[in-house]
Amino acid sequence: MEQDKPARDCDLDGMKQGVLGKPLSRSEGLAKVTGTAPYAAEYHVDNCLEGVLVTAPFTRGTITGIDKDACLAMDGVVAVIDDSRMTARPAQGTADEAPVQQPQQVCYWGQPIALVVAETFEQARDAAKHLKITFEADELDEIPLDPQEAETENNQSTRQGDLAQAMNDASHSVDGRITTAGHASAAMEPHAAIAQWDGSTLTVHASLQMLNYNISELADSLDMEEENIRLVSRYVGGGFGSKLGISEETVAASIAAIALERPVRVVMSRQQVFQCIMRRSETTQRLRLATDDKGDLTGFGHQALVSNLPGEEFAEPVLQSSDFLYAGENRVLELDVARIHQMTAGSVRAPGEAVGMPALEVAMDMLAQESGVDPVELRLRNIPESHPVEGTPYSSRKLAECLKQGAEAFGWEAGPRKPRHTRDGEWWIGTGMASAARVHNISEAKARVTLKPDGTAMVETDMTDIGTGTYTILGQIAAEMLGLPREKVLVELGDTQFPRGSGSGGSWGASSVGSAVYVACTGLRKTLGERAGVSEDELRLKDGKLADGTSVTDLLNGGDLSEEGHYEPGDIDDDFVAAGYGAYFAQVRVNRFTGETRVERMTGAFGFGRVLNEKTARSQCQGGMVWSIGAALTEALHFDPRDGHLVNCDLAEYHVPVNRDVPDLEVIMVEERDPAASPIQAKGIGELGMCGGAAAIANAIFDASGARVMDFPMTPDRVLAAMPAS
Ligand code: MOS
Repeated sequence: MEQDKPARDCDLDGMKQGVLGKPLSRSEGLAKVTGTAPYAAEYHVDNCLEGVLVTAPFTRGTITGIDKDACLAMDGVVAVIDDSRMTARPAQGTADEAPVQQPQQVCYWGQPIALVVAETFEQARDAAKHLKITFEADELDEIPLDPQEAETENNQSTRQGDLAQAMNDASHSVDGRITTAGHASAAMEPHAAIAQWDGSTLTVHASLQMLNYNISELADSLDMEEENIRLVSRYVGGGFGSKLGISEETVAASIAAIALERPVRVVMSRQQVFQCIMRRSETTQRLRLATDDKGDLTGFGHQALVSNLPGEEFAEPVLQSSDFLYAGENRVLELDVARIHQMTAGSVRAPGEAVGMPALEVAMDMLAQESGVDPVELRLRNIPESHPVEGTPYSSRKLAECLKQGAEAFGWEAGPRKPRHTRDGEWWIGTGMASAARVHNISEAKARVTLKPDGTAMVETDMTDIGTGTYTILGQIAAEMLGLPREKVLVELGDTQFPRGSGSGGSWGASSVGSAVYVACTGLRKTLGERAGVSEDELRLKDGKLADGTSVTDLLNGGDLSEEGHYEPGDIDDDFVAAGYGAYFAQVRVNRFTGETRVERMTGAFGFGRVLNEKTARSQCQGGMVWSIGAALTEALHFDPRDGHLVNCDLAEYHVPVNRDVPDLEVIMVEERDPAASPIQAKGIGELGMCGGAAAIANAIFDASGARVMDFPMTPDRVLAAMPAS
């Protein structure tokens, strides 16, 4: 089906099984925690060779030679692959285009350039270390590495009215420069692939988010037909954007397996994952906000500078939610990309809002301070009636409810902030809040659902579950629609032999492929109704039986009953602004002598349409809030300014929050249905949890200590430097 109008009546609401929305545990959870769920590198494959990637030890230039002979003479070494297809992968989002990175041309320090293949991993690693490469590298002073000094290209520009005039005429205004650091996805499972070639079909077990798209990328890279490729990603140990596109280990393992006619496994080292998989761009943002004397926005300016390699299409979409979140007639939104030679910038959890929303929400806090308006009230006052430029209506939007319910649950003390109101020994204590917003994405998806004579049902799609709960929620949707206990529904994912799903990315997975399962089940219900002589509206299915006691299996005539559901986003996309919303409230303590910040408690209230599983949804929100803590306080990629190489490329030096950094996180899920968002009235949720949360912590640091830090992450040195003298 194509969605052209809001799905006001959703069949899910009339179902009798009562399993949808329930806080069921993840169906693959036991297999994962007991170590029996195989990840990409863990399949036992006979006769498998091991490959280790070699990366460029220079920033920009040309490889002139690789001394393969010396390497091949080493113990166990079978091949040195420097095939031009290896590095010439399509960049993110450009699978249809020619590859951006040219073979033998190196454009960032650490770029993969060769694969050494040996009988054992140790032999391959040793040989890779000793591989001699000659190259002609450009002088470092000729290579742009600093976004502030590099050439820029404009990526997005919206102008309406006269912002400068609005700033001039404003009763209250803020003009601030905020920076955010680059981030790594830091998924637990490193990028890995095992490729097998049987002479006609290439089978690759890999760790990927988007099989439906990755198969096209791999076919392009290898100049092969898609029907000769099978990709399998049954379990993925986190993606967060880093596995949206295929990367070098998958392409290299495939080339090697075909060339050597033996299976080849390639696993990136943790350092390689950090150094050659997508980074989130650092950003420099200017926020200009102007209000009248009541605190109503009259001007809204958000400009950002991000960076990427020359020729790469992706630009961190910093302004994505600024576009529609708040009022302000006079507007400037501008995004520029600086061309620098650091590793490729791409999607990292909530691309855009993850860094744009914290900057905006710090500026809103400054405006609240400046105008003497309560921060929650300032947001409530500036929720626009319709899109501030296009005039488009919003689909369901629970921002106000989230702000109110979150404030209530947290115990928010309304009123302007008065920093340094509370001290406990050497710690200042304070609170802060911020809004959350994240665009709702949805994409085409297919899924097959089959009813079996043994009373079970099977859901099949090449959709992935990257730790989000996809196995579980797809099972719940099918169980609800078909009137089966959840355990009677088997869900098979992560194999391109199944119908093409939506892939996991941009938080679109649940609503996209969930809708495909819903469509398939609607088809099955139609057939069952016909066979039973009951109209669809009157078809009540529960625990495998119809209302009159007839067993569903009796209607199958001894065979399978199968239906493929196909969901496509329709024109409705242009008719509404669809997004998920929320609000965060945080309490922190800030050490007055060291500037150290501890998050003491945090509440998030979110509205994201229908809740498909209360437990997995809550877990997604909490995950986002953990990311918020990292973005606020510790996470930053550090590049050597001389050659652009990533310095902190492991989990010891790139500081994600650990258990001790995360307090109990309270999550409120505000009841909502969004008929314009998807046929199942659900929206994206995975990324929403981190779209602004870092600002609640930043604003709490200000309320606690009086330090208005303008640079994320707010490390102790920065907090201390911004702290006013006592
Ligand atoms: Mo997401 S950063 O689109 O996996």
